[in-house]
Amino acid sequence: MDLASISADLDALRDRTLTAIAAAPDVAALEQVEAEVMGRKSGALTGIMKGIGALPAGDRPRVGALANAVRDAVAAALDERRAALAGEALTNRLAAERIDVSLPGRPLPRGSLHPLIETNREIARILGQFGFVVAEGPEVETDALNFEALNIPPDHPARDLWDTLYVDAPADPERGRLLLRTHTSPVQIRVMRSGPPPIRALMPGRCFRHEAVDASHGFEFFQMEGLMVDEGTTMAHLRGLLEAFAGALFGADKRTRFRPGYYPFTEPSVAFDVECLVCGGRGCPACKRLGWMTILGAGMVHPVVLHNGGLDPERYQGFAFGMGTDRIAMLRYGITDLRVFLEDDPRFLEQF
Ligand code: PHE
Repeated sequence: MDLASISADLDALRDRTLTAIAAAPDVAALEQVEAEVMGRKSGALTGIMKGIGALPAGDRPRVGALANAVRDAVAAALDERRAALAGEALTNRLAAERIDVSLPGRPLPRGSLHPLIETNREIARILGQFGFVVAEGPEVETDALNFEALNIPPDHPARDLWDTLYVDAPADPERGRLLLRTHTSPVQIRVMRSGPPPIRALMPGRCFRHEAVDASHGFEFFQMEGLMVDEGTTMAHLRGLLEAFAGALFGADKRTRFRPGYYPFTEPSVAFDVECLVCGGRGCPACKRLGWMTILGAGMVHPVVLHNGGLDPERYQGFAFGMGTDRIAMLRYGITDLRVFLEDDPRFLEQF
């Protein structure tokens, strides 16, 4: 080997290597080039440097200097390319992970209260202002509380008012025959037995009747029961409360009226009407041309019922009322078919 050919080899190696480094697409390719040129065992430049010892002594410093210059140039190019690749990688990542904080958020679907729950709460909110507090009773009830304690003995014709679904099981030795409660009135007895007056209770709940289902009847529906018992309670208290209630629920300008009614557990009994919300009382198909809509049944608690609740009818008087929550919700929201309440169709429920 002479000086001229070694120096030509070094120049060629340097040019080749610098080109390869500039073209390396990623860090792995760069390391590959580095190993081929600078590798301790088989690197091309390492090989040349190892051969320097075999040169004539006078040539060694020149060749050594040339080889060092190539090594430094390659090392610098490697560093530079490495930094450039790292910068590119960062730029790519930043572009890929870019977050535009000014974009509007994606809306999450939100649930809402079922219209019956919403109506229940509104009724409880209004009557709560008069001191009524919520009490609850079971949906599977005894005949004794659903009927007998409410002054409806077995075989009483008034049982026809409530087509009853009985539980298909032998009568419970302690509790007697079991049924699905046909109204929330048995909870009146439970409340009266649970503590002394004054009583102001609201009793919401699901009720059941053996009825053919149509737009205005369900075999499963909701009621809200009210009960007040104290010394000196009169029908005037009932009237005043119901007027305030109807005013808060439907508007203070709406006319209301009491009509005579019949329930075995109240005496006297009334139906409470509000003027038709659709026609304002002139008469229309919604109110069957009556001009009035009945929103609840009520009356003064029958002395027999007070007695069955463990209270002295000589000392205490009370009033009770019961309304169909479904019916109230239909009036509030202008719904014409009560079946939609229990169908769980999101297209209906999403409107509330
Ligand atoms: N329980 C009666 C019904 O279901 C309603 C009612 C309750 C009437 C309280 C008077 C007093 O029809």
